[in-house]
Amino acid sequence: MTLFDVVFAGNDAVFGMTEKAIDDAIAANGADKAVALPDTAYSLPCYYAVTGTKVGNLGEMKAALGVVKTLMTREKRLNDVFMSGVATALCAEFIETLKYMDGAKPYEAPCYGHLADAVIRELGVPLVTGDIPGVAVILGAAPTAQEGVDLVKSYQAQGILVTLVGGIIDQCEELGYKTGANVRVIPLGKDVTSVIHVVSVAIRAALIFGNIQPGDAAGLMKYTMERVPAFVNAFAPLNEVIVACGAGAIALGFPVITNDQPTVDAVNGRVPKSLIVQEDISKFNATSLEARDIKIKITNIDIPVAFASAFEGEIIRRGDMQVEFDGSRVDCFELVQTKEASEIEDHKIEVIGPDIDTFEVGSKHSIGYVVEVAGKSMQTDFESVFERKFHSYLNCVEGLMHTGQRDMIRIRISKDTFNAGFRAKHIGEVLYAKVKNEFAAVVDKCQVKVYTDAEKCTELRHNLAIPVFDKRDERLTSMTDESVDVYYSCIMCQAFSPSHVCVVTPERLGLCGAVSWLDAKATNELDPQGPCQIITKEKVIDERIGEYEDVNEAVRKFSQGALEDVSLYSIIEKPMTSCGCFECICGIEPLSNGVCIANREYAGMTPIGMTFSELASMTGGGVQTPGFMGHGKHFIASKKFMKAEGGVARIVWMPKELKETVAERLNETAKELYGIENFTDMIGDETVAEDPETLLAFLEEKGHPALTMEPMM
Ligand code: SF4
Ligand code: NI
Ligand code: NI
Repeated sequence: MTLFDVVFAGNDAVFGMTEKAIDDAIAANGADKAVALPDTAYSLPCYYAVTGTKVGNLGEMKAALGVVKTLMTREKRLNDVFMSGVATALCAEFIETLKYMDGAKPYEAPCYGHLADAVIRELGVPLVTGDIPGVAVILGAAPTAQEGVDLVKSYQAQGILVTLVGGIIDQCEELGYKTGANVRVIPLGKDVTSVIHVVSVAIRAALIFGNIQPGDAAGLMKYTMERVPAFVNAFAPLNEVIVACGAGAIALGFPVITNDQPTVDAVNGRVPKSLIVQEDISKFNATSLEARDIKIKITNIDIPVAFASAFEGEIIRRGDMQVEFDGSRVDCFELVQTKEASEIEDHKIEVIGPDIDTFEVGSKHSIGYVVEVAGKSMQTDFESVFERKFHSYLNCVEGLMHTGQRDMIRIRISKDTFNAGFRAKHIGEVLYAKVKNEFAAVVDKCQVKVYTDAEKCTELRHNLAIPVFDKRDERLTSMTDESVDVYYSCIMCQAFSPSHVCVVTPERLGLCGAVSWLDAKATNELDPQGPCQIITKEKVIDERIGEYEDVNEAVRKFSQGALEDVSLYSIIEKPMTSCGCFECICGIEPLSNGVCIANREYAGMTPIGMTFSELASMTGGGVQTPGFMGHGKHFIASKKFMKAEGGVARIVWMPKELKETVAERLNETAKELYGIENFTDMIGDETVAEDPETLLAFLEEKGHPALTMEPMM
């Protein structure tokens, strides 16, 4: 047998299975029976991306299978092997989709099966920043459970997203290894066809972030090859079906690493750089990273537990925690302070107060930590930028959970982590190492004081921290787009969304919500050639919509010509583009002459007739979509929010939770702009209406200002 024979045979086998499954389903339910995968706007994502045709019922699926057949050419060229691989993947998608018929839930814990669009959007930012440097697909059972788990753990410790298919899932369970999306180890399913669920993630990333047009198969494969750092680890024994799936992976640019020397030899199947034999499981990690050219950022931190972004989403339950610091109950705070170089002894970590081992298990305490920095280029404006990163730094500690910021923080430390030797000073070690590492351009010296003494925490919170926070807030609120001379571009997301540019201004933060004007300024000063560049705004074209000749020039340059011109303050005329990692999307709701906003966390319906993920599918990819706009939560209360269309008075609907989050600031803005008190009471939410008619009735009853404003369209 040659590689050709094996792939073709595997492809034929899966095709036969798929054909039978579809025929049986049609016989039982009729060709009109609807089929879909849940929580995606691209159903069926892989088939749609490759062909440009959506499949919505069994009859269409049968017709699609006919199209798949045309890919299954049988010449003995490498291209036929790859296309048969793609055909096998598409068949797998059909088989998996049939499992979801009638709203069935075919997967149960720990397996995930199909992953929602929302999951992909969440992965966007960390993939862009390199916090997730790669995606591993582990298929089959390792020679021993321990070797399997060790491999999973090695990737996890590097921040690599791990997906599991088949026997490796049982091996993790057998050794009690924790899996789940929150720790970035995602068991997909035990059948080999479930591997399609990770392929589907890569493919939807191309549609969501890359603006790849459905049907552009060549563009799709180029995108996944260049921008999705995935690879496959397939354990022996390989069979025909696995090899055929592997050919599909290689077609997308994902190398396959296996320990099955005999099979690869038998079929003389070496595909340079793409099908690689590595008999030593402990070297799978290194071989895979090399094959996919993945570089791991190494941060050496002197702590007794692991430190990796994979632990960021880890949750520590009450029963598992050793101690808790809770700023909602007692005095806590975190603060960065700029000092003179002479006041700082580099890498000095002081603990002021009792250490964690003197606390009772499960008890609550005060904590405060001050990170003192000095450097010739340090500016007090950067303090809040550093501080905002503490959340992510501390969460990367295995067995440590951090929420909130400023004086409203909460930290839990797990029993396991405590037992491994983690103490108060290690919080200082983490902050020291990360601040020195990431802000090396401006921080020359750094020391950390960790206070656990309750009285000290109370005193410093009220006399040191709160006054600093107040002063900063004053500076921020007094900062307007008019009060500064320059804006900043951000192209951080171009790794995924090649033509997207955010223009960041004091009153309009980046749509991901994570890059304010100050952040962009700091990023620029820390790395002048980096993702944030200065944009002047001297040549006004149209004040009303916020259009400037110099901003347009910058956008043209940074989008490599993909974008001609943008406005800063309009959703209709030349709106800013979206990459895919927006916190919120707003879209026009014609009946009420206003806009509805949905945030990422909101899973329900909006009166526009679309869910967040459906709205998102119209908005991403770095293209302008008048009438729809991605934006940060903070932008909602800005005086520049849709200023061209009349401002925040256009907001007619928001999910309740989002409304509560922004209420205080939004009400202030509405009072100032229009003299309206408690504006948010006039805005609908899901408890009021999920359709335009009910919403309109509510708005009329409340006398919402949008109803009497100029028509939007
Ligand atoms: Fe991406 Fe814009 Fe956020 Fe920059 S500001 S990270 S480009 S969304
Ligand atoms: Ni953690
Ligand atoms: Ni983005």
